[in-house]
Amino acid sequence: MPRALVTGGAGFIGRHVVHELLADGWQVTVLDDLSMGRAEHVPPAATLVIGDVRDPQQVAEAAQGADVILHLAAVVSVRASVQHFYRDAEVNLMGTLNVLRAAVKQGAERVIFASSMAVYADSPAPVPIDETYTTAPFSPYGIAKLAGEQYTLLLGRQLGFDGVVLRYFNTYGPGQTFTPYVGVITIFVHRLLAGQPPVIFGDGEQKRDFVHVRDVARATKLALQAPPGEVFNVGTGRATSVNQIARMLIERLAPHVQPEYAPPQPGELRYSIADINKARRLLGYEPAYRLEESLDEVIASCRAQVSRANAERASAG
Ligand SMILES: NC(=O)c1ccc[n+]([C@@H]2O[C@H](COP(=O)([O-])OP(=O)(O)OC[C@H]3O[C@@H](n4cnc5c(N)ncnc54)[C@H](O)[C@@H]3O)[C@@H](O)[C@H]2O)c1
Repeated sequence: MPRALVTGGAGFIGRHVVHELLADGWQVTVLDDLSMGRAEHVPPAATLVIGDVRDPQQVAEAAQGADVILHLAAVVSVRASVQHFYRDAEVNLMGTLNVLRAAVKQGAERVIFASSMAVYADSPAPVPIDETYTTAPFSPYGIAKLAGEQYTLLLGRQLGFDGVVLRYFNTYGPGQTFTPYVGVITIFVHRLLAGQPPVIFGDGEQKRDFVHVRDVARATKLALQAPPGEVFNVGTGRATSVNQIARMLIERLAPHVQPEYAPPQPGELRYSIADINKARRLLGYEPAYRLEESLDEVIASCRAQVSRANAERASAG
């Protein structure tokens, strides 16, 4: 049985990646510090190692015997990375170097690095950008991701493993960890469920490429067969504004509510839409989910999360 280490495998995207790998007969180890992920997200068929990517020893132990490492563990917040730039680099950059060092030491054949659309320069128009588009990050988070990409590709070439980089765009779907910073759809749904209006930063005409987490997980699995040394956008090629998201959710959850507007936030791109032709051509990737048809599933998952949290609070108090 081939063996995979998934860092961040108890998190939102990681848990879907783990499911894909198990379904294909991989033996899976998850390394996660559970700072955001949850142990119950890791299926019993996988081995959960609770540990920190900042600790080289823990990473090396978890990587023992791994043929492939899928590195998804990260502190995931463009916005928070501006204030907390040091912590961002400790986890997202130094943590990545620990993973790459373990890959070399343990003789892993391939490292797949979960990068982000945050590595790109802003785009002047709401059109899809391909992987050759200028990289000039707007945030510490984007800087660390871009450095992680370059380390993965360069060390892969020079130290003998296959490095592959995936630039995930705005990922949404059931089970997204709720924080006030990450995942505009999940944040808006939680506010609406709590009887509060969504807060839109800026004029709301910023456009994003929202890609379903199961599409992202499938693209990640397809990257196991990708030609080494390549970078792939993982999105849908479709643009949706934050105003449109707010409208769609308000319509479904609280038709009388008006969104609130707040000043734009530092570090955020105006337009971020993926050209996915390279992933189509070289990975055979095709997104299967459409946003409009997937929102009800996200709402149901957020409702379940809220009831679970209430039940946990009630039993604790
Ligand atoms: N969600 C998105 O829209 C998006 C977009 C672009 C890129 N990404 C990237 O995809 C990956 C997965 O993101 P996600 O959305 O699933 O977020 P997430 O927060 O749900 O998952 C990250 C996981 O990493 C774990 N983790 C954090 N710090 C750690 C540490 N020091 N040691 C070990 N584990 C640690 C967390 O507990 C969590 O389970 C990340 O690398 C992120 O940067 C996500």
